[in-house]
Amino acid sequence: MTPAASAALAELTQHFDTTTLVRDPWRLAPLEIDHRERYRGRAAAALFPRSTAQVSAALEICHRHAMPVVPQGGNTSYCGAATPDASGDQLLLCLARMNRIRELRPIDDIMVAEAGCLLAELQQAATAADRLFPLQLGSAGSCQLGGNLSTNAGGTNVLRYGMARDLVLGLEVVLADGRVLETLGSLRKDNTGYDIKSLFLGAEGTLGVITAASLRLFPQPRSVATAFVALGSVQQAIELLAELRSAGGEELTSFELMPRAALQLLNRHLPDRQPPLPLDAPWFLLCELATARRGADTHHTLEDLLSAASERGLLGNAVIAQNERERQALWQLRESIPEAQRRAGPSLKHDVSVPVAVLPEFVTRGTALVEQTVSEGQLIAYGHAGDGNLHFNVSLRDGADAAAFSAREQTLRRAVHDLVHEFGGSFSAEHGIGQSKVEELERYAPALELELMRRIKLALDPQGIMNPGKVLKR
Ligand code: MLT
Ligand code: ZN
Repeated sequence: MTPAASAALAELTQHFDTTTLVRDPWRLAPLEIDHRERYRGRAAAALFPRSTAQVSAALEICHRHAMPVVPQGGNTSYCGAATPDASGDQLLLCLARMNRIRELRPIDDIMVAEAGCLLAELQQAATAADRLFPLQLGSAGSCQLGGNLSTNAGGTNVLRYGMARDLVLGLEVVLADGRVLETLGSLRKDNTGYDIKSLFLGAEGTLGVITAASLRLFPQPRSVATAFVALGSVQQAIELLAELRSAGGEELTSFELMPRAALQLLNRHLPDRQPPLPLDAPWFLLCELATARRGADTHHTLEDLLSAASERGLLGNAVIAQNERERQALWQLRESIPEAQRRAGPSLKHDVSVPVAVLPEFVTRGTALVEQTVSEGQLIAYGHAGDGNLHFNVSLRDGADAAAFSAREQTLRRAVHDLVHEFGGSFSAEHGIGQSKVEELERYAPALELELMRRIKLALDPQGIMNPGKVLKR
């Protein structure tokens, strides 16, 4: 350990008891590896603060000694954003014990919550107050608010409610030097200078530590209808999307596309989760309409819209969930795809977005690219097609050579991301940069934007202690 890190650790040890500052290797081990087991590091210690004051005290000490700090929430990052490096010099800052909902005010439609709250708990608290907190991710039961905001998480309701950034009214952030920036307001209108809080949303803990946020709440939907639809092509999906949007307006909350191959993986690896339709089409769609309007009947609206689309030849078979249990089963299908893919063996992941209008052409060219580049792989491209975001993942084919497959990772990644760039898209639509896409950011971000990012980093974290090596190169 460097002398600086050991001096910081000695001071931290004086300041915090052993239930708060953890050094046992067996307790550190699960925190030092990401959930996909692609990144493994070694931390000097892990701190589990219970309050903003404790985060502030810890950062003040680390800043003085230039000890690097890696914030960690539910450890569900796909990009290694919350995993320490191998030096053994970094402090893991785990926010899990800061899990209070400080305030929920239905009249203002806001909830003030701490960074360690589980997303599912926030959703439940909003529901109990007859409100909706609309961020929804498959990992809701384990991801935490701090991570959601630090990565500007997306998920399955972006079409209607936007990304995590759009759900934030204010933040409490501990800066790299330990000072606390407090903007936990509930105002919808506040035009007072630069929007400083937005810098920390999506910064992946590289500028400071989000400890709490005031969040926007919405009316609880009274009528929800969910359908599972068989489609002949991505082009049909896009045409159906346009119809659902123009007729359903903002009631269309989700539009999730899945290829047959993804559902076949479910069949094999999670056989208790069965699609309600035969897998005789190349694509399937899960779409949902929801509204808080009294007396609305989204079920009939969706039925009418799908019937009209079917008459125009835009879809094959379709089913609409008849009750909440059937609706949950449809969502479980969609949300189980990453797990089925994990069980199927190694996969090469690309989290990309392109303008919706060019999605069909992108999928055609991307599919050809995968076939040419990695014959050991099978494309499993699924995701939030309604907002242009697909998880353009490639799984190892049964019996194919795993070493040859993995050896193609960089070549394929370059080819896919170059194609995305050509289509005016993003190489990281919702999972962030972490440590896995730092090179990509250097390659694809405009030079001026990168320069401004580096200047912001320097201004807010002059010692470079905040999650070094993530988002930007050291
Ligand atoms: C999803 O939409 O299921 C997640 O973002 C996970 C993934 O990339 O596979
Ligand atoms: Zn996703």
